[in-house]
Amino acid sequence: MGSAVKPALDVPRIDKGLDDIYVKETSICYVDGQRGRLLYRGFDIQDLAQHSTFEETIFILIHGRLPTRQEFAHARSILAEARAITPDVVRLLRCMPSDAPPIDVLRTAVSYISNFDSERDDPTRAANMRKAQRLIAKVPTIIAAHHRIRNGKRIVPPDPSLGGAEDFLRMVTGRKPDPLSARIMDVALILHADHSMNASAFAAIVSASTLADLYSAIVAAIATLKGPLHGGANEAALRTMLAIAKPEAAEQYVLDTLRNRGRIFGFGHRVYRTYDPRALILREYARQLSELRGQEDLFRISEIMQETTVRELKAKQIYPNVDFYSGLVYHLLGLPMDLFTPVFAVSRVSGWTAHVIEYWDDNRLVRPLDYYVGPTDAAYVPLEERP
Ligand code: ACO
Repeated sequence: MGSAVKPALDVPRIDKGLDDIYVKETSICYVDGQRGRLLYRGFDIQDLAQHSTFEETIFILIHGRLPTRQEFAHARSILAEARAITPDVVRLLRCMPSDAPPIDVLRTAVSYISNFDSERDDPTRAANMRKAQRLIAKVPTIIAAHHRIRNGKRIVPPDPSLGGAEDFLRMVTGRKPDPLSARIMDVALILHADHSMNASAFAAIVSASTLADLYSAIVAAIATLKGPLHGGANEAALRTMLAIAKPEAAEQYVLDTLRNRGRIFGFGHRVYRTYDPRALILREYARQLSELRGQEDLFRISEIMQETTVRELKAKQIYPNVDFYSGLVYHLLGLPMDLFTPVFAVSRVSGWTAHVIEYWDDNRLVRPLDYYVGPTDAAYVPLEERP
């Protein structure tokens, strides 16, 4: 082997993780990490969570403004009608190994359905907006259909007369949810719809910047959402709560984990230096649902974990993020753990598509640099001369 490159005198600054790098201007989403505020197109998510619906939030993200009543009715019916998936997609879902992670199945299915979209390669803004609506509409149906198939159950077709969140729960569980559960699902989808330039949105942008199609960009985003440092954290957080099992054990678990320099999943954030506003909203729903379902102990465990972690990591400004409560809420809504990250995608596909469409308005190929520190004089030895 040759020797390593001698470090140049002017070693560049390396921004591993791109922590403080701005890659585009945007008017989609603003995260105020100091004050714990999250805005979509200027609208505070507190207001949206209280008054809006996921369907209206989609419109706001994609179009950049509130819809008129007529526009809203039209957009809602387009989304509802586009929920259906074709027999080809169902056949694909039936071919998946029964133990395939649902997020991987979703990634595969989104890639697959792109081949049936007659506008796939139409790069116009109008076509991309229509594709975005179709994607947003079909992702929940794909997840629900695969879930039913893997459990040997009959697929529940979408009901266009219902709201998207309510219909999603119905398609997964086979039962129409009670109004509180349907509303909580709707709010959870509102809260996860976008979060500025996070890892999955950036993956979508990188793919889109090559002028690949919208579906390709969303496949890249789903693949990136999968990891436990991003979309997978809610599952990891709930697993921890269930493993702790008793409220009396929660504080010690946190102290032991921190002493061993471990991470408490559902805490910390690259941007928030205070409570994630989404976490605060979901925490209240987790409390209500835990009472309704007679699972107060689980909520108590989360409260003790929260109090202990915030107290112990105050100096590092580590607070609960949305994932700490979303997993708990989904569990109390009856969703299995391996659907949590796919449910994140149900919502976030609206933000991803909005970012890609915005980026294409002023596209630039993403092509960063890496700083080479490997050998420069490695001697090639022909295969037959090697031991
Ligand atoms: N538990 C314990 N300590 C933590 C945690 C945590 N969850 N998060 C950060 N810290 C500590 C780190 O150990 C580090 O301490 P040190 O300075 O003594 O080494 C310090 O806080 C800063 O942590 P970084 O990893 O540098 O912060 P970063 O901004 O890179 O991390 C991240 C953000 C990846 C989210 C991190 O907080 C983490 O791993 N959290 C757990 C996973 C999680 O909940 N992910 C979901 C994020 S939200 C989302 O994707 C929707």
